Parts: sequence; C-alpha cells; structure tokens
Amino acid sequence: MLLKVSIFLVCLVGVSEAVIAQQVNQINMVELGKQVYETGGESCRSCHGADGKGTGRARVSLADPGSWKSMKLQMALQGSNLSVDSDEVLKDLILEGARNWNQENFGGLKSHLTESVVGQHFGDNGLPFDEDMVGLGGSNKKVLARNVMRMFRAQGLPRPTSKEIDNVLTSAVLLFIEEEFVE
Ligand code: HEC
Repeated sequence: MLLKVSIFLVCLVGVSEAVIAQQVNQINMVELGKQVYETGGESCRSCHGADGKGTGRARVSLADPGSWKSMKLQMALQGSNLSVDSDEVLKDLILEGARNWNQENFGGLKSHLTESVVGQHFGDNGLPFDEDMVGLGGSNKKVLARNVMRMFRAQGLPRPTSKEIDNVLTSAVLLFIEEEFVE
C-alpha cells in the first residue's frame, strides 16, 4: 500500500516539476494512460496483457510493483552514493526501451552493485532489463504525442514541449497501471 501511494505521488510530483501540473489537472490522465497502454500493434497491452498480469512476451505482473526490477534496483542501491529513483528508471525505460536504458546505465550500475552492495540479492534474472521491453520506442509515440498536443489545444493550453509531452505520456500510463492493475 505504501508503495502504491508513493508511486502515485511520485508521478504527480514528476509532472508538477515540469510546471504543467495546472494544465494536467484539466486533462484526464487515466484516460490518456489507457490510450497509451492500448495504442498500436506493439502496444503495452500486446505484451503485458489486458489485465496487466503478463503474457508469454512479458513475464512480469504490472499488478505487483514490488516485483519490478526498477523497485528492486532502488532498494538495493538505497543509501549508497549511486542511489536511483525507480520512477525515473521506469519513465526512461518506457520512453527509450530497455536496450537503450541498458546501454546507457547498466555498465556502471553492474560494477557498483557487485562491489558496493554486498549481500543484496538482485533477483534471479538480475540486470540488465530484458530488451523485449520496448516501451514507447516504436512508432506509437508519434500518434500519442499528437493526441497530447490536441488535448492541450482543446483546453486552450500552450503547446507543450517534447519533454513535457514525454512526461505527460509516461506519467499517464504509470497512473493508468496504478489505477487499473495494482491491487
Ligand atoms: C514487445 C513487448 C513489450 C512492450 C510493447 C512493452 N513492454 Fe513493458 N516489459 C516487457 C518485458 C519483456 C518486461 C520485463 C523486463 C525485465 O524484467 O527485464 C517489461 C517490463 C515492464 C515494466 C516493469 C519494469 C521493471 O522495473 O521491472 C513496466 C512498468 C512496463 N514494462 C511497462 C510498459 C509500458 C507502459 C509499455 C507501453 C508504453 C510497455 N511496457 C511496452 C515487454 C514489453
């Protein structure tokens, strides 16, 4: 429950940092998150399933954030000088896909985990992230970004920057997962 609440809060804080909290209040984030989850051939749903419990393409349950690698990573590194914020990891993962995330981050973290976090077991799969996790890496993002711009325009809001669009899309889909799947 604590985890549930903290994910929810972190999502909102992330958005407000982008100075668009006000605007986002006028947009139905859960509805947008549903769109993100379901859009396109290579949608989140195509791998994670309509109930978020996983398919043969993704053996992870979106209903159980405590089992996610990003959460385990945050816990394993807590208090060390290389601590990570699981929400940031998740957003990057969703935006860039696992291949890019691994390339950018895995090397440094791996040696840090083995050298500094003695006695922490990082799950049987360990890092890196399974590169089948493509997130919004495909063509879906263009369509979704256009939808966000349309939603902002419909509310009479200023045109969002691409960073704001990224933030809105990732916050929305994480919020949808939280509302729809997390038990
Ligand atoms: C082509 C298949 C595929 C698609 C499309 C996909 N995922 Fe994933 N996803 C995976 C796999 C495989 C994993 C497991 C990664 C691992 O454990 O290393 C995963 C893991 C995750 C996780 C858990 C991350 C963690 O910290 O362990 C989340 C959350 C997630 N996906 C959300 C999404 C969202 C949101 C989308 C759509 C924007 C999406 N996924 C699209 C395959 C996919």
